[in-house]
Amino acid sequence: MAKSSKRSFQTLRGMRDILPVDWPYYEFIEGASKRISGDYGYSRIGTPILEDAGLFSRSAGQSEMVIKEMYVFDDRGGDSVAIRPELTAPVARAYVEHGFSNMPQPIKLWYFDTGMRYERPQAGRYRQFYQVGFEIFGEASPVADTELIVMGYRLLTDLGLPIRISINSLGDTESRAAYKKALNAYLKPLLKQLPPDDLARFERNSLRILDSKEKVTQTLLEDAPKIIDYLSPASREHFLKVVDYLDDLELPYVIDSRLVRGLDYYTGIVFEYYSDDTEITLPDGKKKEIQTAHLALGGGGRYDNLIEEVGGKATPAVGSGFGVERIIVQLKDRQIEIPSVPAPEVFVGQIGDEARKKAFVLFEDLRSRGVRVSHAFTKEGIKAQLEAANRLGVRFAIILGQKELLDKTILIRDMENGIQETVDYKKAVPEVLKRLQRASKPAKPLTK
Ligand code: HAM
Repeated sequence: MAKSSKRSFQTLRGMRDILPVDWPYYEFIEGASKRISGDYGYSRIGTPILEDAGLFSRSAGQSEMVIKEMYVFDDRGGDSVAIRPELTAPVARAYVEHGFSNMPQPIKLWYFDTGMRYERPQAGRYRQFYQVGFEIFGEASPVADTELIVMGYRLLTDLGLPIRISINSLGDTESRAAYKKALNAYLKPLLKQLPPDDLARFERNSLRILDSKEKVTQTLLEDAPKIIDYLSPASREHFLKVVDYLDDLELPYVIDSRLVRGLDYYTGIVFEYYSDDTEITLPDGKKKEIQTAHLALGGGGRYDNLIEEVGGKATPAVGSGFGVERIIVQLKDRQIEIPSVPAPEVFVGQIGDEARKKAFVLFEDLRSRGVRVSHAFTKEGIKAQLEAANRLGVRFAIILGQKELLDKTILIRDMENGIQETVDYKKAVPEVLKRLQRASKPAKPLTK
């Protein structure tokens, strides 16, 4: 038999379709982000998915991510462009491009958008992902850092996730230079023992060795100097103020001297959010491991040099970003119920072509009055239609049959008790509205 020449297609590795069952999760998270942005006074911003590749290689320095994970290509005009691997640099670019620095500071922005990284796909790590993020520009005070740390915590806990926060400070340039010197001196006699990948990381940016996942490296680093001990007086004061605020707010944080983050634009406080437990107890008492508990749900920090690096004037900035898919994996693992789309209240059924025409008009009339209405006009038999109405869980079904068409009436069926009533076609809409209103009110008690 001749082989079919038709090809079938699948999503690329690490890419996922967002199916109808998953959209309510995205909308739930987007809704919570929108609410919290409103509470703290952030305005929404959107930036293009493609940017000049230089925006990332310049702004994120030579970080691992930029080197290994960015989708970069020459477009048809020969320009080197990149699909954004993160959203802070694009938002910083927008801040400069649109003259935000001329407006009263600080400027607070938030986004809910997609980015791409050529990562090795695994649970909670995809090549295309959504991020929610918050950025504050033009505010050097530790109050801004604290606000962001708190907001992220509120966002995740509002969604139902128990959270622990890790914080650290990478300090200003002076602090980092002093620390790198101490770290290099400590590691120099140990370099031969480092795995080749970590040695390469160390050579590119010695700080990046600190969050190595390799056991050998972690052991070698056990007695390494801590960056907190090398902070300049200004960086130290800033860090201590944030810690002090967090204490007053009773936020569950730990100081993690190994926390360095994957992007190279950070200049002070850095932080990450993790699930506070690694397993949950299901309703039947069984324990279930949370497989992605080791992955950060979000992270951020201060990046006071980025605006200048992307062509603006020196502007302090701090921000945070959260992985929407990572949050979703945890919501599902923890079996957290999310609000579902409200079900339809009324079903419009019909028998025959003529009735369908009138039913269509009725459907539109009800819909325009805010009634959640549904139909199955492509089905002929009333039995199949009523089955559909039952599946949808509507409270009322309106039926237009041949007889009703002749009598200029409709049949209203209460799907809860099966009682049917014939009413004048012209009164159909007000009658349905009345019944819906009555049905939504709790029944009056019979006795006092
Ligand atoms: P990031 O730590 O690279 O920071 O990413 C933030 C969050 O995005 C991560 O904690 C993770 O939840 C999620 N994420 C990152 N990569 C993936 C992936 N491949 N698949 C699924 N989720 C992922 C940033 O991107 C910074 N722009 C955050 C920031 C904002 N810093 C200052 N302002």
